[in-house]
Amino acid sequence: MFSAPATAILRTLLLAAPVFSANATDWSTRSIYQLITDRFATANDSAVPCDAGARMYCGGTWKGIVNHLDYIQGMGFDAVWISPVSANIEGATSQGEAFHGYWTKDFDTLNPHFGTADDLHALSDALHKRGMYLMFDIVVNHMAALEPKVNFTNFSPPFADASAFHKRCFVAESPDTSNQTAVEQCWLGDAKLPLPDLDTENSTVVAKLLDWVHKLVQDYGVDGLRIDTVKHIRKDFWPDFSKAAGVFTLGEVLINDTDYAAQYTEVLDAILDYPSYFQLKNTFLDTRGTFSSVATVLTHSQQKYKNGLFRTGSFVENHDQPRLASLTKDSALIRNAMTFPFVHDGIPIVYYGQEQGYQGGTDPYNREALWFTAYQQEKSLVQHIRLMNAARKEAIEYSAAFLTTPMKFLAIEDHSMAISKPPILALFTNVGTEIAQGVNWKVDAIFPPNELLVDVLTCTKVMADGQGGVNVPSAYGMPQVLMPAASLRQGGAVCPSVATGIRARSSGLPGVRVTWAVVMASTLFFVLCRGRWV
Ligand SMILES: *[C@@H]1O[C@H](CO)[C@@H](O)[C@H](O)[C@H]1NC(C)=O
Ligand SMILES: *[C@@H]1O[C@H](CO)[C@@H](O)[C@H](O)[C@H]1NC(C)=O
Ligand SMILES: *[C@@H]1O[C@H](CO)[C@@H](O)[C@H](O)[C@H]1NC(C)=O
Ligand SMILES: *[C@@H]1O[C@H](CO)[C@@H](O)[C@H](O)[C@H]1NC(C)=O
Ligand SMILES: *[C@@H]1O[C@H](CO)[C@@H](O)[C@H](O)[C@H]1NC(C)=O
Repeated sequence: MFSAPATAILRTLLLAAPVFSANATDWSTRSIYQLITDRFATANDSAVPCDAGARMYCGGTWKGIVNHLDYIQGMGFDAVWISPVSANIEGATSQGEAFHGYWTKDFDTLNPHFGTADDLHALSDALHKRGMYLMFDIVVNHMAALEPKVNFTNFSPPFADASAFHKRCFVAESPDTSNQTAVEQCWLGDAKLPLPDLDTENSTVVAKLLDWVHKLVQDYGVDGLRIDTVKHIRKDFWPDFSKAAGVFTLGEVLINDTDYAAQYTEVLDAILDYPSYFQLKNTFLDTRGTFSSVATVLTHSQQKYKNGLFRTGSFVENHDQPRLASLTKDSALIRNAMTFPFVHDGIPIVYYGQEQGYQGGTDPYNREALWFTAYQQEKSLVQHIRLMNAARKEAIEYSAAFLTTPMKFLAIEDHSMAISKPPILALFTNVGTEIAQGVNWKVDAIFPPNELLVDVLTCTKVMADGQGGVNVPSAYGMPQVLMPAASLRQGGAVCPSVATGIRARSSGLPGVRVTWAVVMASTLFFVLCRGRWV
């Protein structure tokens, strides 16, 4: 019907206005579902075989994601993080195929395995129609080559020449792992699968990357970026890059070191909170771990990161780390860990498959096809996530200060801890499911005296004492998430039989879009009034 350029122009006219760029504040209320495009859903829902261990493409597509947005939104997520979209190297390497999308061959071409430009636009449109955000994963540190001896002419200009890349040396072979120059300028990968490291000191290369990200964000209405391998590029590259992107930037700085990670919170909007993750793993998933280490590291991050832990990506699983259920079979430990990101100061991120109880270990086993469990919504972990998303939304609606009040770590014992983030008081333990009543959480004077509270995970009522403190025994190692009944909306999604809060129902529209409608209406009024404000 229309030529491709005509379609593009129509799209720009119909969809690009208003051009809405989501910033860090817009993202702070959100909750992200991270998925691997190749493994989330096939276009026609055929349950094609998928052996995660084989590291081959399995057939998931952008169309498949569109078909299952009810599933994602039904759990309470309002943002989706998808795999990198650029064309990758084709064929089998020593590490299998590029199904994950991290091995760019051509920035300007889409990965044909995931669909067409129309499909990707359709995904963006479908998300926005639901008031949801789209996050792209992007890689700008390196590209990838099939041959041990890189043939640079296989890349498109300006990358079709060795001079666009740093000189070959491998980060993994650097004698000094703390040599930051080597981290930034040597190559990831190895001799069998080299990942040529873009010379991000070269102004031609930098200009191309800035132009690319700007156009990508504009073209697909991207609301935010998860940026791969951030610590492998000089820090002062990032502010200009972020500016060119014009949307929320969330960087991956894979390190178990708060002070090191904190440097990148100065140059990007936020980072994935890896230092917390490593402590969580040690404590939440191991009955021998102690909670003081969690409190110490998180408090340190709250002090060292530019914006504290606010807007950091808070997670307990992702595609690079073993799944919770591969590290422990104890369902209470898993519930405690899964609860944590929702009461963290940052933006909760759940990695697809966690809700279905997937147990894959380290990469590639943690990248299972989700179609094997048919998107069941009645599973208990799905309900757990739905409840935590709903409870967090209730907390935000009840008190906007929830988003700006740092977590406080209270009643820290070896095997239990409370986190206060009003109106939530979350109670954690790592005694495990076999212990009927292992600990007592005792928190002083935190609520109004004799306040009626409810554990939103079970809808059990708890009374604060005369001084507003709580003294609650654990049951079979499960976490509890206490909120005042008055903070929960009557007829809402959380414990409706106990909730006593009265609030106007939220319109479900992001505030900015409402604001835009007001601006449009006022402008129209202004025009009708012949250019005079009345
Ligand atoms: C569904 O798509 C797959 C490829 O992903 C294809 O092999 C299969 O034939 C399709 N099935 C139907 C019923 O169209
Ligand atoms: C490099 O790739 C180009 C384009 O695919 C090809 O023409 C050329 O023969 C290759 N060079 C080598 C040394 O393999
Ligand atoms: C920078 O990259 C461009 C594009 O590949 C290349 O032409 C140029 O020689 C490079 N400049 C330097 C100083 O290496
Ligand atoms: C750090 O690594 C770079 C790149 O490999 C190397 O040139 C430099 O000599 C190293 N510095 C030290 C102090 O080892
Ligand atoms: C992370 O670092 C802390 C302290 O520096 C250490 O105790 C802990 O074992 C580390 N965790 C991992 C997974 O390396």
